[in-house]
Amino acid sequence: MAIDASNPVPPQFPRIAGKDNIPGHVPRELVRSAGITTGPEFLAAPHKFMARLHETMPPIFYDVSDYGNAWQLLKYEDAFFMLRHPEIFTNEGATPFPRDPNDYFYFIPIEIDPPHHRKYRAILEPLFSPKGVLELEGKIRRLSNDLIDQVIDQGGCEFTTDFGRPLPVSVFLDLMGLPQEKRDTFVKWAVDLLHSQSRETMAEAMGLISAYLKEVIAEKKEQPDDHVISRIVHATVDGRPMSPPEIFGFVIFLFIGGLDTVFATLNNIWLWLANNPDRCREMISDPDNINTQIEELLRVFSVTFSGRMLAQDYELRGVKMKKGDRVTSVLPACNYDPEIFPNPTVVDFHRPRKPILAFAGGVHSCMGAHLARLEIKVALQEWLRRIPDFSLKPDTAIEYRPGGVVGPEYVPLVW
Ligand code: HEM
Repeated sequence: MAIDASNPVPPQFPRIAGKDNIPGHVPRELVRSAGITTGPEFLAAPHKFMARLHETMPPIFYDVSDYGNAWQLLKYEDAFFMLRHPEIFTNEGATPFPRDPNDYFYFIPIEIDPPHHRKYRAILEPLFSPKGVLELEGKIRRLSNDLIDQVIDQGGCEFTTDFGRPLPVSVFLDLMGLPQEKRDTFVKWAVDLLHSQSRETMAEAMGLISAYLKEVIAEKKEQPDDHVISRIVHATVDGRPMSPPEIFGFVIFLFIGGLDTVFATLNNIWLWLANNPDRCREMISDPDNINTQIEELLRVFSVTFSGRMLAQDYELRGVKMKKGDRVTSVLPACNYDPEIFPNPTVVDFHRPRKPILAFAGGVHSCMGAHLARLEIKVALQEWLRRIPDFSLKPDTAIEYRPGGVVGPEYVPLVW
């Protein structure tokens, strides 16, 4: 039965984790502990690890870990299929973020299956369309330059703290209709929620963000404007106003979906540029090719995954999966599928065009993809115009933390 997002209840699916909890229908020869997002090989060089999965693992395998057991899809075609068949691979209960069962809400639109899903996406379509996001271009350019102004004369900076994190947060505040003065507070909340290793710090950040967003939601009810939070607050679904958990679940998911992903992507790209000055010059010398360059960088540095639950028994590549099994499309690995992208680890700005899976696909394909591409483009254009020559600070050890969004913790630069 379809879920009622206006009146959410916690899902009943148990989370199956660990080697003692492998369902009987899973063939033992397909069981692995690959360490995706947690293992030492992933943490040492996550994108290299993703590319190597095509050599070290079967195309579909059952991954066992203390965080949760799930089928993993590595092939581009399989992920493409999964993403386009929500009647087989449902999103209900597929999101990993825990919530208080006594104050439950769904993350909207990601946890809503078709046909209801569409009604929620339609509310923000005008703002997130290619034309809608162009309205933000001038602001993104100004914000990028403000951040560059603060570091350009220092001869170096810590990229993630000085640019990679504050830029998407500033853009997010503008988009949502929140004050720019809140930027440093939001950066701290986002880092604590999405990057802390301590559950208390995460819970505290979630509490502070929730309290603040609930306050703002109440304000926007009284004083509407043209920004995202107000549009959500005043939208109707099926001819009725949305309930408080629907409004909150929608607003908070934008925070979760739209910040860390952009942080990580910018940090990955700048780390690569710092290590590859000749490629940096190549990009600068071919400014008209920037959109293609960004697609290729998004392919090589995909940062996240698509998780689903099987709504029915299903067989793929001869592997028999059962209703209720969890399935993950390992998008960073799918984008290295050598059958689709020959020499997949080579950054090639002249590859034949083929849709990439960095933003997934199908009904739940990333709603912020046009905005994310614009942020990356403007950030690159402004940075490379003003700081074309930069490198990694000598003797820097790059560190990655475990988690579902792949990017370096710190990228110290010098110029
Ligand atoms: C480079 C940056 C980004 C990447 C790589 C990314 C990636 C993704 C992926 C892979 C999904 C699909 C997840 C799934 O299938 O389970 C997704 C969904 C989504 N993303 Fe993004 N994202 C980015 C930026 C953003 C931004 C800036 C926003 C908004 C401010 C955003 C909002 C969303 C929303 C609302 C969804 C859910 C769409 C739906 O369920 O219909 N994302 N994103």
